[in-house]
Amino acid sequence: MRIVGRALGVAAAATLLMSAAEAQVDAPASAPVDVATDAAAARTMLAAAKPVTEPHAMVVSAQHLATQIGVDILRQGGNAVDAAVAVGYALAVVHPCCGNIGGGGFMVIHLADGRNLFLDFREKAPLAATATIFQDARGEVVPDRSTSSWLAIGTPGTVMGLDTALAKYGTMPLAKLIAPAIALARDGYVLQPGDVKILDGRARDFATEPNVGAIFLNQGRPFVAGERLVQAQLAKTLATIAKGGTSAFYHGPIADKVAAASAAGGGLLTPADFAAYTVAWDTPVTCRYHGYTVIAAPPPSSGGATVCEILETIEPYALGAMGYGSAEATHILVEAERHAYADRNVALGDPAFVHNPVETLIAPAHAAEIRAAILPDRATPSTEVKGIGGPPESNDTTHYSVVDAKGNAVSVTYTINYLFGVGKIAGDTGFLLNDEMDDFSSKPGTANAFGLVQGSANAVAGGKRPLSSMSPTILLKDGKPYLVTGSPGGSTIITTVVQSIVNIVDFGMNVQQAVNAPRFHHQWMPDLITVEPGYLTTDSAARLARMGYTVRTGTPWGAAEAIIVDPRTGALQGANDRRRPAGLADGY
Ligand code: GLY
Repeated sequence: MRIVGRALGVAAAATLLMSAAEAQVDAPASAPVDVATDAAAARTMLAAAKPVTEPHAMVVSAQHLATQIGVDILRQGGNAVDAAVAVGYALAVVHPCCGNIGGGGFMVIHLADGRNLFLDFREKAPLAATATIFQDARGEVVPDRSTSSWLAIGTPGTVMGLDTALAKYGTMPLAKLIAPAIALARDGYVLQPGDVKILDGRARDFATEPNVGAIFLNQGRPFVAGERLVQAQLAKTLATIAKGGTSAFYHGPIADKVAAASAAGGGLLTPADFAAYTVAWDTPVTCRYHGYTVIAAPPPSSGGATVCEILETIEPYALGAMGYGSAEATHILVEAERHAYADRNVALGDPAFVHNPVETLIAPAHAAEIRAAILPDRATPSTEVKGIGGPPESNDTTHYSVVDAKGNAVSVTYTINYLFGVGKIAGDTGFLLNDEMDDFSSKPGTANAFGLVQGSANAVAGGKRPLSSMSPTILLKDGKPYLVTGSPGGSTIITTVVQSIVNIVDFGMNVQQAVNAPRFHHQWMPDLITVEPGYLTTDSAARLARMGYTVRTGTPWGAAEAIIVDPRTGALQGANDRRRPAGLADGY
């Protein structure tokens, strides 16, 4: 049997085609894929996959230089929060598609004393933003306005987020933690093939913005591996932050330059948006899965609620006996995902603006209702599951995981949304700005046959944070860190995190196998299963087709940079996702 990867639905296409630019993959989405051959090759590859093992501490990120900086900080006696701050700034330099100071994100922390914390440094909509800014006079969504215009940019949160975590739980001075990033920006770093492949993803766009092309093109042409990327303006901005901290970013010349460029380009950001920006500590979403405690991201992330709703639903099924890649296990997971994404799209938004029924979504009773609706041998059409389509989300985010020698664990996912964000830099600030406004519903569901007025939960409003799928997650075993994980991938983040967990807990994979294993994704709408090459065998693909599923092959997505702490020995096992060959798991 052959599965042909074409005719992706809107959301899946947005998610997966963007990932083609970033993922280090060989099969284009439109190429026919012989699943049987790929499945055999994938299983051979998986059998050989082994994590990096170290006795004391571990960092895994999507860029090797950033990982090494984190490990250096840990070796020097810094804790996991110190290392997370250093890695966050380093990725802003060496992984500029996704690491950032022009975007925002989430941090989940488990402290060795047992506390579990969540820090929300998601971008906020400009104060002047309204629910209809991405619509024309007739109420139609204007293509590209929420992704490519100055209106697409939310007030960045990363600098305040990293600084807030450091001030509360770190031990080292900010200047020391930013110093390696400044050096990498000032002196440059040699690009590897994995770095260049990501830059190539938007090389054509760089040429349209002179101050962007001046940095990310080499004399007007795309960089090639072995060349050095120098970011002198970014070095200067980072040095300003190193000296003046959060205040230097949110008050004064940096904010003023962004506001001026925004005004000149028709955007809404003003110095007042920067001055009013705040981060928020919150209680993580928690749930249990086969004896593990899952510590996950609450709204404005949809990640924790949706991951927990899926896990709660699937827990009673014997997935391990069904087997990885089997039609039976895929069916159960897909049905759980279908319901959880429908709930996600309807119910969730920024908690400062809307009530989020997280407890209801992750309650055992709701999971039981979903299980009761799952037919043993048939796909449920998504049209029979209540919900409205959320906006397509892009996937050009990055995740990193840190565990230190004392047992502190930090899981960070942060983003500028699309690959290289909005593709714009304000003046000579040297950092790329986000297009996170695209994560709002440009046109929320008006009341329809389902009475879906709650679609407005994620409508644009001034000062509001857009709903996210970023899912930095920590699993605890007997109160101690067991798994630290997360991923980029827009709406696929949630299913990537679930599969990493299920691959380990149910299918008995080691962490490298769990991260490397070909994935599948279903997000309720469009009503199809998108699979990475090699996920399905010929037999399981045929069985799913008989159950009524539509299956499409997409290019690989996500990068689940993960760490496991061996509960018996305390040894750390780190896994850099094979889809990010420039990344690294390292420790000491
Ligand atoms: N921008 C992708 C997300 O936050 O889910």
